[in-house]
Amino acid sequence: MTAPWLEANHLSHRFPLPGGRSLLAVDDVSFRLHQGETLALVGESGSGKTTLGRMVVGLTAPQSGSLSFAGSAIRAPRREVQMVFQDNAAALNPRHGIGASVMAPLLWTGGLRRAAAEAQARALLDRVGLPAEHFFTRLPHELSGGQRQRVGIARALAPNPSVLVADEPVSALDVSVRAQILLLFRELRDERGLASLFITHDLGVVRSVAQLVLVLYRGRVVEQGPVAAVMDRPRHPYSQALRAATPVPDPDRPRPATPRPPDLGDVPGCAFRARCPQAHAACAVPPPLRAVAAEHDVACHLAA
Ligand SMILES: Nc1ncnc2c1ncn2[C@@H]1O[C@H](COP(=O)(O)OP(=O)(O)OP(=O)(O)O)[C@@H](O)[C@H]1O
Ligand SMILES: [Mg+2]
Repeated sequence: MTAPWLEANHLSHRFPLPGGRSLLAVDDVSFRLHQGETLALVGESGSGKTTLGRMVVGLTAPQSGSLSFAGSAIRAPRREVQMVFQDNAAALNPRHGIGASVMAPLLWTGGLRRAAAEAQARALLDRVGLPAEHFFTRLPHELSGGQRQRVGIARALAPNPSVLVADEPVSALDVSVRAQILLLFRELRDERGLASLFITHDLGVVRSVAQLVLVLYRGRVVEQGPVAAVMDRPRHPYSQALRAATPVPDPDRPRPATPRPPDLGDVPGCAFRARCPQAHAACAVPPPLRAVAAEHDVACHLAA
């Protein structure tokens, strides 16, 4: 196999908190992404997904570990690695037409002349399903949530990236619009060979966008591997709980309670211990991430 586009090795990030305390938001996370692959990053609120995504695009510096794109270190934002946010309204200038917002990165980093940048911005708007003829001069507040998300995608694609980090890009959208935006993501990935990190707390979308999945719990990888393997037969009790909490089409299937958000503070041993139905004495020792099958790793003493 060719060298990975994106390689994260032992990334960690700790936020300082008032009173001299701190929070280890991302704890020793490693993964590899090849051209055209999508890794779904899943985990409940506060598990460290956004922090990890921001590290990948160079917006948050890891305190330890390393990141590289095509073999060269990522230490600051760079053209090849771009991000799509959950709410793009905040990122768009409310007084500028959306065409201008898509043009901006082309003028800053692309070094293009105005006419060339405008032509490219128009082509990008056309491609994401917002015909430039009608949409170029529209203001952000004149668009629906789905349309604004399309603008965010066009803006992220403007610098012609190789890696896309999408942070909950469909979470705020209606179900029907969500399906259209997911389809657009898949098409763009295939057309451009993008490697993507797709952040979501909704396991229901994982199969439709990703080949690989990484499950985070309190900043730690509890399970990672091919989507089919992890989704069909999750080995970690937390992945099992997450999957069980995902709405399923069968109304007769019992639905366990949604996992509650994590508490703050470092915990000795397995981070999931306090909530794990299978916890036992050995869990006071942190379980190492170990292979249970090809490319499938689980951090649980009990997983087989
Ligand atoms: N700037 C910050 N300062 C202090 N703590 C932070 C900061 N940003 C995030 N955190 C904390 O780090 C942890 C991980 O946050 P993060 O936003 O990465 O989680 P997330 O998985 O993206 O959650 P969500 O699903 O709610 O978006 C949380 O406990 C959060 O409160
Ligand atoms: Mg987040």
